[in-house]
Amino acid sequence: MTVMGESTIIITLDGPAATGKSSVGIEVARRLDIPFISSGLFYRTATLLALRQDVSPANQDGILALLERHKILFQSGGKSNKISVDGLEVSHKLNTDQIDENVSAVSSHPGVRSWVQIRLQRLQPPFVVEGRDMGSIVFPKADIKFYLTASSETRAARRGNERGSDLDLVGDALMRRDLLDARQLEPAKDALHIDTNGKSLEEVTQTLLLHVAATDKV
Ligand code: DC
Repeated sequence: MTVMGESTIIITLDGPAATGKSSVGIEVARRLDIPFISSGLFYRTATLLALRQDVSPANQDGILALLERHKILFQSGGKSNKISVDGLEVSHKLNTDQIDENVSAVSSHPGVRSWVQIRLQRLQPPFVVEGRDMGSIVFPKADIKFYLTASSETRAARRGNERGSDLDLVGDALMRRDLLDARQLEPAKDALHIDTNGKSLEEVTQTLLLHVAATDKV
C-alpha cells in the first residue's frame, strides 16, 4: 500500500452529462484526500471567452487566438475548482444554459482539445479527474478508470434539479449534447461501467471507493 502523502494515483471518471460525475468525483476525492479536477471547466472557459468576444463557437482559429491571448489559470482547491481569466475568477459563470448550448461546438475542435489535454497532463497527481475522454485519451495509463451511466430520465431529473429548469427542455438539451459529444463519449476499453440509476450519491461513492480500495493503489 502507498503512503497517502506519496500517492501518485490517477482516477478517471467519464460519462455523459448529468450522470453525477462531478458530485461523485468530488466526494471520492474528498474521502481519499486528493484533489478533484473537472476537465469540462476548461472547455466551458474557452466557450465563455468566445461568447464574450463575439467569436463564433465554430471558429477554431478565433478560439485558439483567444486562448493564447488570455492568461487562464486553473486551481484545484479541495471541493471546487477555480478558473481565472486575466486574474479574474470566472468559475461561477461557467454553468449557464448559454454555455451548455455552445460548449459542444467549442470542444469539437481538435486544436481546442489538445490545448485542454496539454494543460491537464501538466497537473501533478494524485487526483480524481472527471470528463468524457479522461480514461480513453488524456490519461490512458490511469490507475483506475470509471465510466458512469444513467437513463435519460434520471439525467434530465438531475440536471433539472440543479438548474431549476423544465425537465422536458433539459432532456432535449441533454440529447442534443450527447449527439454532439458522441465522439468524445467512447469509453476507455478498460473502464469499469457503473450504472447510477436509482442509486444515491452515497451509494455510487461507496461503489467507487470499494473498487479503489480493492486495487490497493491508494
Ligand atoms: O462535464 P461538462 O458538462 O462540464 O462538460 C462540458 C462540455 O465539455 C461537454 O458538453 C463536452 C465537453 N467535454 C469534452 O468534450 N471532454 C471532456 N473531457 C470534458 C468535457
